[in-house]
Amino acid sequence: MNLKQALEKKGIKGAPKSFDQVGCIAIIEIPEELKRHEKVIGNTFLELHKNIKTVFKKASPRSGQYRLRKLKLIAGANKSITEHKESGCRFLVNVRTCYFSPREGTERMRIAEKVRKGERVMIFFAGMGPSPIIISKKTKASDVIGIEINPACVRYFRRNIALNKTHNIKVIQGDVKKEAKKYYGSCDRVAMPLPETGYKYLSHAIRCLKPKGIVHFYFISHENEINKWKKIVRREASKLKKKAKIKEKKKILPYGPGIYKWRIDFTVF
Ligand SMILES: C[S@@+](CC[C@H](N)C(=O)[O-])C[C@H]1O[C@@H](n2cnc3c(N)ncnc32)[C@H](O)[C@@H]1O
Repeated sequence: MNLKQALEKKGIKGAPKSFDQVGCIAIIEIPEELKRHEKVIGNTFLELHKNIKTVFKKASPRSGQYRLRKLKLIAGANKSITEHKESGCRFLVNVRTCYFSPREGTERMRIAEKVRKGERVMIFFAGMGPSPIIISKKTKASDVIGIEINPACVRYFRRNIALNKTHNIKVIQGDVKKEAKKYYGSCDRVAMPLPETGYKYLSHAIRCLKPKGIVHFYFISHENEINKWKKIVRREASKLKKKAKIKEKKKILPYGPGIYKWRIDFTVF
C-alpha cells in the first residue's frame, strides 16, 4: 500500500508527492490543504516505512548563506542527526544544521566518474563532504580540497573523512572568496555546487585552474535562458584575459515549472 492509499483509508484525500530520505529521517513537503492532517500523514508514513524513525516537514524554503531550511517534527523521534549511505560511502549529517540533498547523489557520482588519475580536485561549497569523500574513495585523484563556510558542516566533514578512512582530503573552513586564493593555478578540476549564487565565484574557480583544467559550474535557469549563462562564463573568463570553451551542458534536476538546475563544464585558454 502506498501513502496515498493508506491516507484514503483514514479519510484523507491527497498526499505529499515526494519526500527525501536522509538516513533514517524523512523530509516531506505538506501541501497547505493537508496541513491540518500533518500528524496523521507523518504517523502513516512511519507505519509504511519501517526504516524511517523521524518525519520532518519542510517548514520554510532554503535560505541564507548556509542554504538551510526550518524543519518541523511531525512524527517519530525528535532526532536530526543520522547516518546516510551513498555510493558506498557513509555520511553523518545533522539535517537541521547542514545542507545535504540525497537527490544530488547521481550528479556527485557523475563528477567522480570524470576524475582522472593524479588530478587535484577542488570542491567549493563542500558541505559535510559528500563530493570530496566520494571522489577520494572512487578515483585515483592525487588530492581533493573542500572549502566550506558553515562550521557545523565542517565538523561533520571531518568526522565523515574519519568514518570513510580517506587520506587525501584537505578540509578548509572559510569563505571561498578568501580561501581559494591559496590554490590559484594548482587544480585540474573545480566543482562549484552552489547553483543560486555560484556565478559570483566564477573568477576564483577560473584562477584555481591549471592549463587544460575544467570547471563544473552549476546554476538555476529556465530552459530558454541557457545562452545568458554561457555569456556569463565567457565574460568572467575574458575579464581575466582568457577565453572559455564550453565542453558540456547538462540538465541536472527540476527546480520549478520550466526551470532546472544545470551544469556547464568549461575550460579556459
Ligand atoms: C548547495 S550546498 C552544497 C553542499 C555540498 N556540496 C553537498 O552536495 O551536499 C552549498 C554549501 O555552500 C556553503 N557556502 C555558501 N557560501 C559559501 C562561501 N562563500 N564559501 C564557502 N562555502 C560556502 C554553504 O554553507 C553550503 O553548505
